[in-house]
Amino acid sequence: MLLGVNIDHIAVLREARKINDPDPLDAISLVKRAGADQITIHLREDRRHIQDIDALRIIENAQLPVNMECAIDPDIIDTVIDMNPHRITLVPEKREEVTTEGGLDLIKNFQVIKDISARLKEANIELSVFIDPDMFQIKMAKSLDAQWIELHTGLYANIYAMLNSNLKNTNHSIKELDLPRNALHVKLQEATKQLQSSATLANDIGLKVAAGHGLNYQNVKVIAEIPEIIELNIGQSIIARSIFTGFESAVKEMINEISN
Ligand code: PXP
Repeated sequence: MLLGVNIDHIAVLREARKINDPDPLDAISLVKRAGADQITIHLREDRRHIQDIDALRIIENAQLPVNMECAIDPDIIDTVIDMNPHRITLVPEKREEVTTEGGLDLIKNFQVIKDISARLKEANIELSVFIDPDMFQIKMAKSLDAQWIELHTGLYANIYAMLNSNLKNTNHSIKELDLPRNALHVKLQEATKQLQSSATLANDIGLKVAAGHGLNYQNVKVIAEIPEIIELNIGQSIIARSIFTGFESAVKEMINEISN
């Protein structure tokens, strides 16, 4: 299992004060030393955390592949192609959201993504699409010539959190999760099965399968056990733990969780 460490939240902390510390660039040698496989960053249209200069410095200096998440907005696409990361993961983006809620709709955005896909092929940059675990979206990813899909694990993680902590339904777009515990258990099983069958389908049609969003030290094992998922991209939980245990150790602990 490969681990991509999403370091956006280091920039979140810096931007809270608009100063120079902490610098996400300082994380990259630690990610490598800890044994992870990839740096993941999200250059958002509103530049709320990672800035262009961060992305450029990270791509220049990372001794690991850089997976750059971005929206399908033409300006951002021009910017990230110029930066020449190893992989671009297309994600949906709404300014008002706290984090990426829901996958990209490949059906609705087919032509735009088809054009981006052709440009990435020419630039020799891998294409991944961040999608919900949905059969139609997976087939569409294949016809868009993506090499990777990243399955959105947010629904799974959200239900898991509601069952295992006192958290209320944090994704307000999913009203149907306001359910009693026994019904939530069923929903969790369904969400897990959906991720499993999606990964199998994607793998069968020749897509490489990553997964991410909301994964943490408690809920990651079930996802790491799905054989067709070969990479996880994890950010918030690693950065949160690093405050208490140190960054390198937090990355190592996650590697232990996903490789056991
Ligand atoms: N993968 C993608 C495509 C994402 O958009 C995010 C969140 O930026 C992550 C993984 C990481 O999610 P988290 O920070 O919840 O681990």
